[in-house]
Amino acid sequence: MNWHFPRTDYAEHILNAMHGGLLSRVTIFAPRKRGKTQFIQRDVMPLCESKGIFVVYVDFWQDKDNPEAVFIQSVIRAIEERKSWLSKVTDIFKPNKIGVSLSKASVDIGLEAKQEQNPYQLFDAFELLNKLNMPTLLCLDEVQHLATRKEFENFTAALRSFMVNRGDDLVKGIFTGSSREGLEKLFRHTKAPFYNSAQSLDFPALDEKFVEFELGVVKKITNGVELNKEDALNTLIEQHREPARFVELLQQMVLNQVVDFSEAMKRFDLVVQSHPQEFQDLFEQLPALDKAVLLLIARGNGKNFYTDKGIRNVKLMLLDDSVNVTKSSINNALRRLKSENLIFNIKRGVMGIENPELEKYLIAVAS
Ligand SMILES: Nc1ncnc2c1ncn2[C@@H]1O[C@H](COP(=O)(O)OP(=O)(O)OP(=O)(O)O)[C@@H](O)[C@H]1O
Ligand SMILES: [Mg+2]
Repeated sequence: MNWHFPRTDYAEHILNAMHGGLLSRVTIFAPRKRGKTQFIQRDVMPLCESKGIFVVYVDFWQDKDNPEAVFIQSVIRAIEERKSWLSKVTDIFKPNKIGVSLSKASVDIGLEAKQEQNPYQLFDAFELLNKLNMPTLLCLDEVQHLATRKEFENFTAALRSFMVNRGDDLVKGIFTGSSREGLEKLFRHTKAPFYNSAQSLDFPALDEKFVEFELGVVKKITNGVELNKEDALNTLIEQHREPARFVELLQQMVLNQVVDFSEAMKRFDLVVQSHPQEFQDLFEQLPALDKAVLLLIARGNGKNFYTDKGIRNVKLMLLDDSVNVTKSSINNALRRLKSENLIFNIKRGVMGIENPELEKYLIAVAS
Protein backbone atom coordinates (compact mmCIF):
# COMPACT_ATOMS: atom_id res chain seq x y z
CA MET A 1 0.00 0.00 0.00
CA ASN A 2 1.38 3.41 -0.92
CA TRP A 3 1.16 5.82 2.01
CA HIS A 4 3.15 8.53 0.28
CA PHE A 5 1.05 11.64 -0.07
CA PRO A 6 2.15 13.13 -3.40
CA ARG A 7 3.04 16.81 -3.45
CA THR A 8 3.29 16.90 -7.20
CA ASP A 9 1.72 20.34 -7.48
CA TYR A 10 4.39 21.90 -5.36
CA ALA A 11 7.14 20.08 -7.23
CA GLU A 12 5.59 21.19 -10.51
CA HIS A 13 5.43 24.76 -9.25
CA ILE A 14 9.14 24.80 -8.44
CA LEU A 15 10.24 23.17 -11.69
CA ASN A 16 8.04 25.46 -13.75
CA ALA A 17 9.48 28.52 -12.06
CA MET A 18 12.95 27.18 -12.80
CA HIS A 19 12.06 26.47 -16.41
CA GLY A 20 10.59 29.94 -16.78
CA GLY A 21 13.84 31.49 -15.58
CA LEU A 22 12.28 32.78 -12.36
CA LEU A 23 14.33 30.56 -10.11
CA SER A 24 17.76 29.01 -10.41
CA ARG A 25 18.49 27.92 -6.89
CA VAL A 26 16.10 27.50 -4.02
CA THR A 27 16.45 26.58 -0.40
CA ILE A 28 13.76 24.54 1.28
CA PHE A 29 14.32 24.39 5.00
CA ALA A 30 11.88 22.93 7.49
CA PRO A 31 12.31 21.33 10.91
CA ARG A 32 13.18 17.67 11.12
CA LYS A 33 10.92 14.94 9.87
CA ARG A 34 8.52 17.09 7.91
CA GLY A 35 9.03 15.19 4.68
CA LYS A 36 11.65 17.25 2.84
CA THR A 37 13.74 14.33 1.69
CA GLN A 38 10.72 12.32 0.61
CA PHE A 39 9.45 15.32 -1.31
CA ILE A 40 12.72 15.55 -3.22
CA GLN A 41 13.05 11.84 -3.85
CA ARG A 42 9.46 10.89 -4.54
CA ASP A 43 7.92 14.03 -5.99
CA VAL A 44 10.62 16.23 -7.50
CA MET A 45 12.95 13.59 -8.92
CA PRO A 46 10.38 11.54 -10.86
CA LEU A 47 8.94 14.73 -12.26
CA CYS A 48 12.38 15.82 -13.49
CA GLU A 49 12.75 12.65 -15.43
CA SER A 50 9.44 13.19 -17.19
CA LYS A 51 10.54 16.71 -18.11
CA GLY A 52 13.88 15.64 -19.54
CA ILE A 53 15.88 17.08 -16.65
CA PHE A 54 18.88 15.15 -15.38
CA VAL A 55 18.70 15.04 -11.61
CA VAL A 56 21.36 14.26 -9.00
CA TYR A 57 20.51 13.67 -5.36
CA VAL A 58 23.26 14.31 -2.82
CA ASP A 59 22.89 13.64 0.90
CA PHE A 60 25.77 15.36 2.67
CA TRP A 61 25.16 13.34 5.80
CA GLN A 62 25.97 10.14 3.95
CA ASP A 63 29.57 10.62 4.99
CA LYS A 64 29.85 13.58 7.28
CA ASP A 65 33.62 13.78 7.01
CA ASN A 66 33.75 13.99 3.29
CA PRO A 67 31.12 16.03 1.47
CA GLU A 68 33.27 16.30 -1.62
CA ALA A 69 33.52 12.54 -2.06
CA VAL A 70 29.81 12.22 -1.42
CA PHE A 71 29.12 14.78 -4.14
CA ILE A 72 31.42 13.12 -6.67
CA GLN A 73 30.02 9.71 -6.02
CA SER A 74 26.44 10.92 -6.25
CA VAL A 75 27.10 12.46 -9.66
CA ILE A 76 28.78 9.31 -10.98
CA ARG A 77 26.06 7.11 -9.58
CA ALA A 78 23.29 9.24 -11.07
CA ILE A 79 24.90 9.00 -14.49
CA GLU A 80 25.44 5.26 -14.13
CA GLU A 81 21.91 4.63 -13.02
CA ARG A 82 20.36 6.64 -15.81
CA LYS A 83 22.64 5.50 -18.60
CA SER A 84 19.84 4.14 -20.73
CA TRP A 85 17.62 7.17 -20.16
CA LEU A 86 20.53 9.52 -20.90
CA SER A 87 21.45 7.74 -24.07
CA LYS A 88 17.95 8.42 -25.31
CA VAL A 89 17.99 12.12 -24.50
CA THR A 90 21.65 13.01 -25.15
CA ASP A 91 24.51 11.77 -27.25
CA ILE A 92 26.84 11.67 -24.29
CA PHE A 93 27.57 7.98 -24.64
CA LYS A 94 28.66 8.28 -28.25
CA PRO A 95 32.40 7.47 -28.52
CA ASN A 96 34.73 10.33 -27.55
CA LYS A 97 31.96 12.46 -26.20
CA ILE A 98 33.17 12.14 -22.65
CA GLY A 99 36.83 12.73 -21.99
CA VAL A 100 36.66 10.91 -18.70
CA SER A 101 36.04 7.28 -19.41
CA LEU A 102 32.77 6.24 -17.88
CA SER A 103 33.98 2.72 -17.40
CA LYS A 104 35.80 4.14 -14.43
CA ALA A 105 32.37 4.79 -12.99
CA SER A 106 31.87 1.08 -12.74
CA VAL A 107 34.60 0.94 -10.17
CA ASP A 108 32.92 0.94 -6.84
CA ILE A 109 34.40 3.99 -5.21
CA GLY A 110 32.87 3.12 -1.85
CA LEU A 111 32.15 5.95 0.54
CA GLU A 112 34.71 4.72 3.03
CA ALA A 113 37.34 4.96 0.35
CA LYS A 114 39.80 7.73 0.99
CA GLN A 115 39.80 10.67 -1.32
CA GLU A 116 43.22 9.72 -2.72
CA GLN A 117 41.87 6.37 -3.77
CA ASN A 118 38.91 7.94 -5.45
CA PRO A 119 39.35 7.59 -9.21
CA TYR A 120 37.32 10.74 -9.78
CA GLN A 121 38.18 14.24 -8.74
CA LEU A 122 35.72 17.03 -8.20
CA PHE A 123 36.73 18.56 -11.50
CA ASP A 124 35.82 15.30 -13.29
CA ALA A 125 32.34 15.40 -11.79
CA PHE A 126 31.85 18.98 -12.93
CA GLU A 127 33.21 18.07 -16.37
CA LEU A 128 30.80 15.18 -16.69
CA LEU A 129 27.89 17.43 -15.84
CA ASN A 130 29.09 20.08 -18.29
CA LYS A 131 29.47 17.53 -21.05
CA LEU A 132 25.96 16.28 -20.51
CA ASN A 133 25.03 19.76 -21.64
CA MET A 134 21.43 19.37 -20.65
CA PRO A 135 19.10 20.80 -18.00
CA THR A 136 20.38 19.47 -14.71
CA LEU A 137 19.03 19.74 -11.21
CA LEU A 138 21.28 19.19 -8.22
CA CYS A 139 19.26 18.29 -5.13
CA LEU A 140 21.58 18.93 -2.22
CA ASP A 141 20.19 17.52 1.02
CA GLU A 142 21.45 18.40 4.51
CA VAL A 143 23.37 21.15 2.79
CA GLN A 144 23.82 23.06 6.06
CA HIS A 145 26.51 20.52 6.84
CA LEU A 146 28.83 22.33 4.42
CA ALA A 147 28.91 25.29 6.77
CA THR A 148 29.99 23.26 9.79
CA ARG A 149 33.73 22.86 9.20
CA LYS A 150 36.46 25.03 7.88
CA GLU A 151 37.95 22.16 5.90
CA PHE A 152 34.82 22.07 3.71
CA GLU A 153 35.36 25.64 2.52
CA ASN A 154 37.25 24.86 -0.68
CA PHE A 155 34.74 22.33 -1.86
CA THR A 156 31.85 24.63 -1.03
CA ALA A 157 33.45 27.50 -2.94
CA ALA A 158 34.09 25.27 -5.96
CA LEU A 159 30.51 24.04 -5.89
CA ARG A 160 29.28 27.58 -5.72
CA SER A 161 31.39 28.62 -8.69
CA PHE A 162 30.20 25.67 -10.69
CA MET A 163 26.54 26.40 -10.02
CA VAL A 164 26.44 30.17 -9.81
CA ASN A 165 29.17 31.53 -12.07
CA ARG A 166 28.22 29.90 -15.33
CA GLY A 167 27.19 31.41 -18.61
CA ASP A 168 24.41 28.99 -19.42
CA ASP A 169 21.53 28.48 -17.08
CA LEU A 170 21.59 24.72 -17.33
CA VAL A 171 22.44 23.72 -13.78
CA LYS A 172 19.85 24.50 -11.12
CA GLY A 173 19.72 23.54 -7.50
CA ILE A 174 17.40 22.70 -4.67
CA PHE A 175 19.03 22.94 -1.25
CA THR A 176 17.33 21.22 1.64
CA GLY A 177 18.13 20.92 5.29
CA SER A 178 16.70 21.16 8.74
CA SER A 179 18.90 23.65 10.51
CA ARG A 180 17.95 27.28 10.26
CA GLU A 181 21.25 28.23 11.78
CA GLY A 182 23.02 26.30 9.04
CA LEU A 183 20.95 28.04 6.42
CA GLU A 184 21.98 31.43 7.75
CA LYS A 185 25.61 30.39 7.69
CA LEU A 186 25.48 29.18 4.15
CA PHE A 187 23.21 31.70 2.48
CA ARG A 188 22.51 34.81 4.51
CA HIS A 189 25.59 36.22 6.14
CA THR A 190 27.52 38.52 3.84
CA LYS A 191 30.53 36.23 4.14
CA ALA A 192 28.50 33.09 3.56
CA PRO A 193 29.69 30.92 0.67
CA PHE A 194 26.31 30.91 -1.06
CA TYR A 195 25.48 34.44 0.03
CA ASN A 196 22.36 35.66 -1.71
CA SER A 197 22.60 33.01 -4.37
CA ALA A 198 19.39 31.16 -3.62
CA GLN A 199 15.81 32.07 -2.97
CA SER A 200 14.19 30.57 0.04
CA LEU A 201 10.86 28.84 -0.33
CA ASP A 202 8.52 27.77 2.40
CA PHE A 203 7.90 24.11 2.68
CA PRO A 204 4.15 23.96 3.09
CA ALA A 205 3.13 22.16 6.27
CA LEU A 206 0.91 19.14 5.87
CA ASP A 207 -2.75 19.98 6.21
CA GLU A 208 -6.16 18.41 5.73
CA LYS A 209 -5.35 17.35 2.18
CA PHE A 210 -2.71 15.05 3.60
CA VAL A 211 -5.16 13.81 6.23
CA GLU A 212 -7.81 13.13 3.57
CA PHE A 213 -5.30 11.24 1.48
CA GLU A 214 -4.15 9.03 4.36
CA LEU A 215 -7.71 8.39 5.59
CA GLY A 216 -8.44 7.36 2.01
CA VAL A 217 -5.64 4.82 2.23
CA VAL A 218 -7.09 3.47 5.47
CA LYS A 219 -10.51 3.19 3.88
CA LYS A 220 -9.07 1.25 0.98
CA ILE A 221 -7.14 -1.29 3.03
CA THR A 222 -9.94 -1.84 5.52
CA ASN A 223 -12.59 -2.12 2.83
CA GLY A 224 -14.49 0.89 4.02
CA VAL A 225 -13.55 2.03 7.53
CA GLU A 226 -13.93 5.81 7.71
CA LEU A 227 -12.02 7.59 10.46
CA ASN A 228 -13.03 10.99 11.82
CA LYS A 229 -11.31 13.66 9.78
CA GLU A 230 -11.41 16.42 12.36
CA ASP A 231 -9.90 14.20 15.06
CA ALA A 232 -7.30 13.08 12.55
CA LEU A 233 -6.31 16.64 11.71
CA ASN A 234 -6.04 17.57 15.39
CA THR A 235 -3.87 14.54 15.96
CA LEU A 236 -1.58 15.55 13.12
CA ILE A 237 -1.24 19.03 14.59
CA GLU A 238 -0.50 17.58 18.01
CA GLN A 239 2.25 15.54 16.40
CA HIS A 240 3.87 18.72 14.99
CA ARG A 241 2.63 17.67 11.54
CA GLU A 242 5.22 14.93 11.29
CA PRO A 243 3.95 12.63 8.56
CA ALA A 244 5.72 9.47 9.70
CA ARG A 245 4.24 9.60 13.18
CA PHE A 246 0.79 10.13 11.78
CA VAL A 247 1.10 7.32 9.26
CA GLU A 248 2.49 4.96 11.91
CA LEU A 249 -0.43 5.79 14.15
CA LEU A 250 -2.90 5.02 11.37
CA GLN A 251 -1.14 1.74 10.66
CA GLN A 252 -1.38 0.75 14.32
CA MET A 253 -5.04 1.72 14.36
CA VAL A 254 -5.73 -0.49 11.37
CA LEU A 255 -3.73 -3.41 12.78
CA ASN A 256 -5.41 -3.20 16.17
CA GLN A 257 -8.83 -2.19 14.89
CA VAL A 258 -8.90 1.04 16.88
CA VAL A 259 -10.98 3.86 15.41
CA ASP A 260 -10.73 6.42 18.20
CA PHE A 261 -7.82 8.85 17.88
CA SER A 262 -7.42 9.75 21.54
CA GLU A 263 -7.25 6.09 22.47
CA ALA A 264 -4.82 5.49 19.64
CA MET A 265 -2.58 8.36 20.75
CA LYS A 266 -2.38 6.90 24.24
CA ARG A 267 -1.64 3.43 23.07
CA PHE A 268 0.49 3.86 20.00
CA ASP A 269 2.07 7.30 19.79
CA LEU A 270 5.22 6.35 21.60
CA VAL A 271 7.48 8.94 20.03
CA VAL A 272 6.71 11.62 22.56
CA GLN A 273 7.42 9.36 25.49
CA SER A 274 10.60 8.08 23.95
CA HIS A 275 12.02 11.54 23.37
CA PRO A 276 12.67 12.69 26.95
CA GLN A 277 15.28 10.00 27.59
CA GLU A 278 17.11 11.03 24.47
CA PHE A 279 16.80 14.72 25.41
CA GLN A 280 17.84 14.03 28.95
CA ASP A 281 21.01 12.29 27.77
CA LEU A 282 21.75 15.14 25.42
CA PHE A 283 21.15 17.74 28.10
CA GLU A 284 23.15 15.93 30.78
CA GLN A 285 26.33 15.82 28.76
CA LEU A 286 26.38 19.58 28.15
CA PRO A 287 28.69 21.88 30.14
CA ALA A 288 26.90 23.70 32.98
CA LEU A 289 27.03 27.04 31.24
CA ASP A 290 25.54 25.65 28.04
CA LYS A 291 22.71 24.14 30.07
CA ALA A 292 21.89 27.48 31.65
CA VAL A 293 21.98 29.29 28.32
CA LEU A 294 19.83 26.64 26.66
CA LEU A 295 17.24 26.80 29.42
CA LEU A 296 17.04 30.58 29.16
CA ILE A 297 16.48 30.34 25.43
CA ALA A 298 13.75 27.74 25.89
CA ARG A 299 12.04 30.06 28.37
CA GLY A 300 11.95 32.82 25.80
CA ASN A 301 14.84 34.77 27.33
CA GLY A 302 17.27 33.99 24.57
CA LYS A 303 18.41 37.57 24.03
CA ASN A 304 20.64 40.33 25.45
CA PHE A 305 23.12 37.78 26.67
CA TYR A 306 25.93 40.29 26.68
CA THR A 307 24.29 42.90 28.89
CA ASP A 308 24.65 42.99 32.67
CA LYS A 309 21.11 41.74 33.02
CA GLY A 310 21.74 38.96 30.55
CA ILE A 311 24.80 37.82 32.46
CA ARG A 312 22.81 37.96 35.71
CA ASN A 313 20.09 35.80 34.15
CA VAL A 314 22.64 33.20 33.13
CA LYS A 315 24.07 33.18 36.66
CA LEU A 316 20.60 32.71 38.08
CA MET A 317 20.06 29.65 35.92
CA LEU A 318 23.41 28.13 36.82
CA LEU A 319 23.33 25.45 39.42
CA ASP A 320 27.07 25.56 39.81
CA ASP A 321 28.46 28.77 41.33
CA SER A 322 32.02 27.96 40.47
CA VAL A 323 31.42 28.51 36.76
CA ASN A 324 32.86 31.70 35.38
CA VAL A 325 30.22 33.74 33.55
CA THR A 326 31.59 36.40 31.24
CA LYS A 327 30.65 37.75 27.86
CA SER A 328 33.24 35.60 26.21
CA SER A 329 32.30 32.39 28.07
CA ILE A 330 28.64 32.97 27.11
CA ASN A 331 29.75 33.60 23.57
CA ASN A 332 31.56 30.26 23.55
CA ALA A 333 28.51 28.48 24.92
CA LEU A 334 26.33 29.98 22.19
CA ARG A 335 28.84 28.94 19.57
CA ARG A 336 28.89 25.35 20.84
CA LEU A 337 25.11 25.16 20.96
CA LYS A 338 24.88 26.49 17.42
CA SER A 339 27.40 24.07 16.07
CA GLU A 340 25.45 21.22 17.67
CA ASN A 341 22.40 22.52 15.79
CA LEU A 342 20.52 23.02 19.04
CA ILE A 343 19.83 26.72 18.66
CA PHE A 344 19.48 29.21 15.84
CA ASN A 345 19.22 32.98 15.32
CA ILE A 346 15.54 33.91 15.12
CA LYS A 347 16.63 37.43 14.28
CA ARG A 348 19.58 39.58 15.17
CA GLY A 349 20.56 38.82 18.74
CA VAL A 350 17.58 36.62 19.54
CA MET A 351 18.03 32.87 19.84
CA GLY A 352 15.54 30.04 19.52
CA ILE A 353 15.61 26.27 20.02
CA GLU A 354 15.79 24.35 16.74
CA ASN A 355 13.73 21.34 17.69
CA PRO A 356 10.23 22.05 19.04
CA GLU A 357 10.13 18.77 20.97
CA LEU A 358 13.41 19.58 22.70
CA GLU A 359 12.03 23.01 23.49
CA LYS A 360 9.04 21.42 25.22
CA TYR A 361 11.33 19.17 27.19
CA LEU A 362 13.51 22.10 28.28
CA ILE A 363 10.52 24.14 29.37
CA ALA A 364 9.48 21.21 31.53
CA VAL A 365 13.00 20.98 32.98
CA ALA A 366 13.19 24.71 33.65
CA SER A 367 9.89 24.99 35.47
N1 LIG B 1 4.42 12.95 1.58
C1 LIG B 1 4.49 12.02 2.55
N2 LIG B 1 3.46 11.14 2.73
C2 LIG B 1 3.53 10.21 3.70
N3 LIG B 1 4.55 10.05 4.53
C3 LIG B 1 5.59 10.89 4.40
C4 LIG B 1 5.62 11.91 3.41
N4 LIG B 1 6.77 12.58 3.52
C5 LIG B 1 7.43 12.02 4.53
N5 LIG B 1 6.74 10.99 5.06
C6 LIG B 1 7.17 10.14 6.19
O1 LIG B 1 7.96 10.92 7.07
C7 LIG B 1 9.26 10.36 7.21
C8 LIG B 1 10.26 11.46 7.29
O2 LIG B 1 10.30 12.12 6.05
P1 LIG B 1 11.64 12.74 5.49
O3 LIG B 1 12.78 11.87 5.77
O4 LIG B 1 11.38 13.12 4.09
O5 LIG B 1 11.70 14.04 6.41
P2 LIG B 1 12.81 15.15 6.43
O6 LIG B 1 12.09 16.45 6.55
O7 LIG B 1 13.75 14.99 5.31
O8 LIG B 1 13.51 14.81 7.82
P3 LIG B 1 15.02 15.15 8.28
O9 LIG B 1 15.01 16.61 8.58
O10 LIG B 1 15.20 14.32 9.50
O11 LIG B 1 15.92 14.80 7.14
C9 LIG B 1 9.42 9.46 6.01
O12 LIG B 1 10.27 8.38 6.29
C10 LIG B 1 8.02 8.99 5.73
O13 LIG B 1 7.71 7.89 6.56
MG1 LIG C 1 15.78 14.64 5.22
